[in-house]
Order: sequence, then structure tokens, then C-alpha cells
Amino acid sequence: MQTVSVHIGNTTQTVIPPALHSQFIEHLGSCITGGLWVGKESAIPNIEGFRKDVLEPLAALRPPVIRWPGGCFADTYHWRDGIGKDRPVTFNGNFGTDRPEDNTFGTDEFMRLCALTGAEPWLNINLMSGTVREAAEWAEYVNRAEPTALSALRRKNGSEAPYGVKLWGIGNEVWAGGGNMTPEDYVSLYRRFTSAMPRFKTPDGSPLPQYFILSGPDGNKPKERVNWTRDLFAALARYRQPKLDALDLHFYNWNVGPEADTEDRFDEAGWYRVLKGALEIETVIREQYALIEEGLARFPAPEGDLFPAQKPACRLIIGEWGNWHQPAFAARPALWQQCAMRDAVTSALTLDVFHRNADKLSAACCAQTVNVLNSLFLTEGDRTVLTPHYYVYRMYKPHRGGKLVEISASAPETGGLPAVMALASEKDGVVTVNLVCTSYSVPCRAEIHLGREADVLSGETLSAEKPTDCNTFDEPFRVVPHQNLPEKAGEGKFAVTLPAGSVSVMRFQV
Ligand code: AHR
Repeated sequence: MQTVSVHIGNTTQTVIPPALHSQFIEHLGSCITGGLWVGKESAIPNIEGFRKDVLEPLAALRPPVIRWPGGCFADTYHWRDGIGKDRPVTFNGNFGTDRPEDNTFGTDEFMRLCALTGAEPWLNINLMSGTVREAAEWAEYVNRAEPTALSALRRKNGSEAPYGVKLWGIGNEVWAGGGNMTPEDYVSLYRRFTSAMPRFKTPDGSPLPQYFILSGPDGNKPKERVNWTRDLFAALARYRQPKLDALDLHFYNWNVGPEADTEDRFDEAGWYRVLKGALEIETVIREQYALIEEGLARFPAPEGDLFPAQKPACRLIIGEWGNWHQPAFAARPALWQQCAMRDAVTSALTLDVFHRNADKLSAACCAQTVNVLNSLFLTEGDRTVLTPHYYVYRMYKPHRGGKLVEISASAPETGGLPAVMALASEKDGVVTVNLVCTSYSVPCRAEIHLGREADVLSGETLSAEKPTDCNTFDEPFRVVPHQNLPEKAGEGKFAVTLPAGSVSVMRFQV
């Protein structure tokens, strides 16, 4: 048993954006078809075609944002294929999905999913093989209140009221599958697509805010990602600036190459390698945030008095993140992978990086919610399991909208990492403390110095007998959180035991 000392300091003014806990779903493998969506006629219990045992726990999380339809799938998706009664069957070759796409899950179904889960929709337009007109008409279909042919079509398809979609992704990974573009190529398309996007009003007559999201860099390429963002902003700075609101960085924690293991078969070295890989995202966030600031500073001031000079702003968001283990490439359904305790620990560490950088990062979507990569749900036939990663999101929910609290931990190192990594936030007089025990095999005794009197509200720990443990269809509740209440250990001081390789969340009323 190792001992660590965690000191809670002052509450800062930095608020954790709820959107850091967002989700991403794509027509890839069995994420949507067979996973989230089974259709109304299915023998699998469903609510309006959504698999009940996925929809209900997903709705319980209230994902702040859901991004759809891709990913790479967005680059070939034509939204008209997915509306109305007679939908064409197309072919879905995305990442080896390799099967006909019946298009029964389309725009109206996605909007219904958002309504049922309380999520804000993020639509990613097809910049690669779609047209400017097609993108503008998609916006008309979802957002137009006035009587037009497209708003009539939406009404005919069941939605009287416009959906009020605010988040628009303008292309996906345009540096690779999204067109192999240079920043200059992309900016010239971005200027056209965003200039053509119509404007809308909310029911009270005020303008509907619309946010345009630029395709950010490949976060896994240290040189290219710097050049991408620098060159992108240089191209945007030339002459007049189009509307821009956010840059969408993608970062996967690759567990590929000669050292790669599998998601549920690894040793101590593999444990630490993958944990450390996840933490690299913090360097990328800080670097990209600085590059955005640098790029914006170079924008020229507008000439003349007609348009008042506005300080340009562009937020950093992460549209895709997660562990990507080597076997996923060959998996069928495509990119299906298990999620073991190691993945839950990396998810907790990653979400804590996001929380810690709440002044720099505005949103982050996990790739992906169901049956693909770092998923929260796995389904097979009529069976569903919640992965350990699901429970991390559930346990971390109290941080949404909380203010970051200063925290320091003096912990011994194991495998090159501090044995315990901690994060805290405060909301409505409740301090929530995360304690991630990164040690592969040694438990920790943590002393939490709150420095003020407090009552313990709750204490929960997600841990497993073995680091390779996961939830399977035969043993769906192998890795679930259990109560682990901290004990009072003095004035303003509490103590709790953290199992090796675990995630704990303690809540104190202060
Ligand atoms: O999430 C899987 C794929 O990874 C997405 O389609 C793509 O955007 C990324 O390369």
C-alpha cells in the first residue's frame, strides 16, 4: 500500500464546459445500425426504433452534444437519402463496414435522438463529395420556420417546428479521407460553404446562433498538426475573414505498431504505455490553443467604418478522441473493440485533462458512443453491456458546469506516472474530487486535505480484480462502480483506500 496526500486549495473562476462530456456517433460498423438503432419493427425492445437498453442509459447521461453522421461517413453522405418514406439503399464502405446502408436512420431520427437524450445536435456537412447547395439546403430543411418547399418537406416528415441546429462541422479530417487537402485548398472551400449557409431566426424572432466548425489537424502528427493550424489561420487571414467559431482537433491514443497489445490482453508495460499515451493529449491542447491565439492575432483589422472591428474568436474543440487498439482494424463489425479497466482509466485521465484545460477547450466528443473504438455501449444481437468507460462518464457528471478547484497531490511514482492523479471542482457548495490510481498493481491510501469542515456526500470507486477485466455479454457487471466512502481522519481531513488501477469520485458538502 502506498500513501498519497491530496491538498484541496481555492476555487477558481474557470467553469468546466458541460460540452467536454459530448458524444460522437457515425454510420460505421454497428455504431448506429444494430447498435443504437434497430428500427421500430425490431423484436429487440426499442423506443421509436432506438434500442431501449442503449437509449435509456444514454439519456441518463444527458450527453451535452452529439456529433453525426461522421467522421469519414459524412464525406460521402447525402442527407436527402435519409429522409421521408422511400429511402434508397446505398453502400456503406466506411472503414470496412462493407454493407448496404438502408438509410432508415437519417436527419429526423438523429434529431429525435437528440430530443430524447437532451443533446445539442452537431451536424457535419459533406464537404468532400457534396455541394454547397446541398449543405445550404440541409440547413434550410432543419432550420427554416417560414413556409418554403424545404420546410414543408420537414413538416411532411413529422416535424412542424424547425430543429434549431446551431453546430455545423464544415468537413471532416480534410487533410486525409476528407479530401487530402492542403490548408489553402480547404480554406477556399470553407469560405464558399460558410458564405452560402443561410441565416435563421428563433421562435422569438432573434437570430439563431450558428457556429461553424473548422476541420482541425490530425492531433497525432506532431509536425503536421503545427503546420496545419498555422497555415490554416494564415490562409484565413488573407483578405476578408469568413465566419469561424471553432477548430475541431482529432486525437486518438494509438495502441498500434510492434509494441501493441490487445484491449483485454496486456501486461504491466502495456498498461503504463497506454496510460502515458492518453496523457499526451494535454500537450496537443495547449499547443493548438496557442496556435489559434497566434493565428487570430494576425488577422488584419477591417478597413473602413461600415463594419465595426470585432475581436476574432475561435474555440478549440476535440471532435474525436479515444483509445484505438490494433485489433480494431480487422474487427467485424468494423472498429469494434472491447473496453477494459485500462480504457476506463485512460478515459478518466483524458476527461481530467479536458477539465484541467477548461479555459482552453470548449467541447470534446468521445469516439464513439456504441460498438466503435472507445465505446460506452457494446451490443450483440439482443444483448447490451455498459462498458467501464460508461461508468466514468456517469461518475464524472457532477463536474459539468462546476468551477475548477486548485489541487495538488504528492504521490510516489509508479511506472513513470504519479501513483494518483487528482482533479476537483466545486458546484453549489459541493466539492467533487476525482482520484485516479494509475498503479498497475499497488493500492493507495489517499489522505484528502480539504482544509475546511465538510460532510461526505458520496464516494464511489470503479475498479477491477485484474486490469484486463471488462464487461462481456456473459458477465455484463464484472466492472461496475461500488460505494467507497472516505472516512474522517481529522479536522478537514479524510482518508480513503484506492484499489490499484481505479477511478474514484468523492463528493463533499462544504
Ligand atoms: O472514428 C473513426 C474514424 O476515425 C472517423 O470516421 C474519422 O473521422 C477518423 O479517422
